[in-house]
Amino acid sequence: MSHTPQSPTQRVTIPLVQQWKEEGRRIAMTTAYDAVAARIADPIVDIILVGDSVGNVCLGFDNTLPVSVSMINHHLEAVARTRPRALLIADMPFLSFHVSREETIRNAGGFLQRGADAVKLEGGANRLDMVRALVDCEIPVMGHLGLTPQSVNVMGGFKVQGRTATDAFRLLEDAHRLEEAGCFALVLEGIPAELAARATEILKIPTIGIGAGLGCSGQVLVFHDVVGLTDGKTPKFVRAYSNGFQLMQEALSRWATDVRDGTFPRGQESYRLPDALKELVANWTPHEPTSGS
Ligand code: KIV
Repeated sequence: MSHTPQSPTQRVTIPLVQQWKEEGRRIAMTTAYDAVAARIADPIVDIILVGDSVGNVCLGFDNTLPVSVSMINHHLEAVARTRPRALLIADMPFLSFHVSREETIRNAGGFLQRGADAVKLEGGANRLDMVRALVDCEIPVMGHLGLTPQSVNVMGGFKVQGRTATDAFRLLEDAHRLEEAGCFALVLEGIPAELAARATEILKIPTIGIGAGLGCSGQVLVFHDVVGLTDGKTPKFVRAYSNGFQLMQEALSRWATDVRDGTFPRGQESYRLPDALKELVANWTPHEPTSGS
């Protein structure tokens, strides 16, 4: 099984990710919301994102808007306890970087104190102030442009962005300004491949695409999408490499059948009493209640 061209123990840092862009080594990033996914992904990918997609992927919400700072804290702490070698990024949820510079710094700083190496936030020109405030406090920021899920209401649904001249030029301008503001990398989501390729060309920092074609410095997909744990329809840019949902149901179904057939557990899956106790336990009976009790 081929895992990664990189050493699976090498600690991934921001300068290393930036060097990979210069060298043309493509970057693989996925999400993890708990310690299990983090342990599976860590020896393989370069970047782990505790994404606000936890809201729709794991918590049953329709979109990412209800996700709060404390929810991200909870999931980030679980991932961080595994001490990943991959670069660990925490997503800034809706309203966590909009109200004031102070609140933004406290929320993002809290993520770093819980083990994140950097934060990611959605938005372009309207978020430059917050990006600068974070960078000023030595908090590394990954930008996120294009189909930004927190703007679902403004976009009128999850729709491909950057298809008109105005939108395409605005995206290139935003990408350039986010780089100038100090972002160390940029996620480009749900935009035409040619536009993502042009952004990648004009920027020094790496771009990580999702539904943005092959011309980015790397790719990100949600963990559950890659391993086929997503139940229902997935966007056209998703490629599932396993049918995790079905495989897990098959395993559970075989176990439930064994339970019902009485073939689980076997002797070797059970604990035994010491010989000296067996007869005593076998002959034990409850005390007769004494009168009045
Ligand atoms: O929350 C998330 O999972 C994301 C990635 C899809 C980039 O933002």
